Amino acid sequence: MTSTGPTGPVTADSAHSADSTAGGTPTVQPTAPDVLERCRLLVRPVLEKAVERLHPWPAEMAAYALGWCEVGGAPASGATGKGLRQALAVLGAEAVGAPGEAGAAGAVAVELVHTFSLLHDDIMDGDATRRRRPTVWKAYGTGPAVLAGDALFALAVETLAGAEGVHAPAAVRLLAASLTDLVRGQADDLLFESRPWRGPEAVRPDEYRAMAEHKTGALLGCAGALGALLAGAPEETVAALDRAGRHLGVAFQIVDDVLGVWGDPRVTGKPAHGDLRRRKKTLPVLAALSADSPAARRLAELLEAEDALDPEGVRTAATLIEEAGGRSAARAEARHRLAEAHACLESVPLAPRPLGDLRTLLDFLPHRRM
Ligand code: IPE
Ligand code: MG
Ligand code: MG
Repeated sequence: MTSTGPTGPVTADSAHSADSTAGGTPTVQPTAPDVLERCRLLVRPVLEKAVERLHPWPAEMAAYALGWCEVGGAPASGATGKGLRQALAVLGAEAVGAPGEAGAAGAVAVELVHTFSLLHDDIMDGDATRRRRPTVWKAYGTGPAVLAGDALFALAVETLAGAEGVHAPAAVRLLAASLTDLVRGQADDLLFESRPWRGPEAVRPDEYRAMAEHKTGALLGCAGALGALLAGAPEETVAALDRAGRHLGVAFQIVDDVLGVWGDPRVTGKPAHGDLRRRKKTLPVLAALSADSPAARRLAELLEAEDALDPEGVRTAATLIEEAGGRSAARAEARHRLAEAHACLESVPLAPRPLGDLRTLLDFLPHRRM
């Protein structure tokens, strides 16, 4: 299968040509933070240039959300995200034999969409803290935060539509489809909050999986797929990277759920037990409740109580979830999803060095602080 990318034809053979043993000297696999940093540096100028196009007010809120500045515009350090999505887009291009720059417009688009989705999500979830700082709506007000999210969304589409080469229209279609999925997942996540914990109306684990794949997996899948698509990759390679990212997304969401119950707020940057207090239908809880054990029954009674969970109740719930096997079931599912993601990467020809980087990211990210 051959198609034409910005750097010429990409074939299965050329995808293999960037051998990690080129010249006979085996290269050392960089660590995940190194991979993320390399991609972040490649994307940053393009991302900055895009944000500069915004009206100065939403531009400042966007820069604040991206961790580049404080309220008022003074430079900030240490509040940026991991940049996973932009890295996947860069590596998606490299994995099909193109330079990472070929995926840059896709990288910028997914990073902007991710930032937009978190901005609006923090309003929907009523969360006041992200990455150890006030959320945008807390710092600037809800109306301005909605506007900043809209601005980021529009900028993402505009950036991708303006990508060089012949693949921009297909890239915009891919992004739009993943956004539709993201919104679907977010809708389910919110609706699950008012579903009961037990009985026929309770949220089933397969419903959770679909929600997580849409809410978190769609954009991660889109990221790698966009990089490959913009680089002119064959359809099955684009689809395999999309599937890999979706599996990674479910694993990632499960880890997020586990951290939401047992994570250290100093490390996660978010207050502890927010999901439990809001009665979020996260996988550790759903898995614990599906166990037929005294701990599972006590957990259900505690969650079903009318009153909001106080700090003591939240601690008891966390212990019962663990006793009922919710934590280990969630970890097992995350591991399974990661194995599936690796299998997707195996299913198509990819250049060895970026493939190594992709594998490193898969292995590193969902295991963080779990
Ligand atoms: C956010 O989901 C995902 C989207 C915005 C689509 P969550 O609400 O579960 O994530 P955090 O915990 O706020 O980061
Ligand atoms: Mg949230
Ligand atoms: Mg949410």
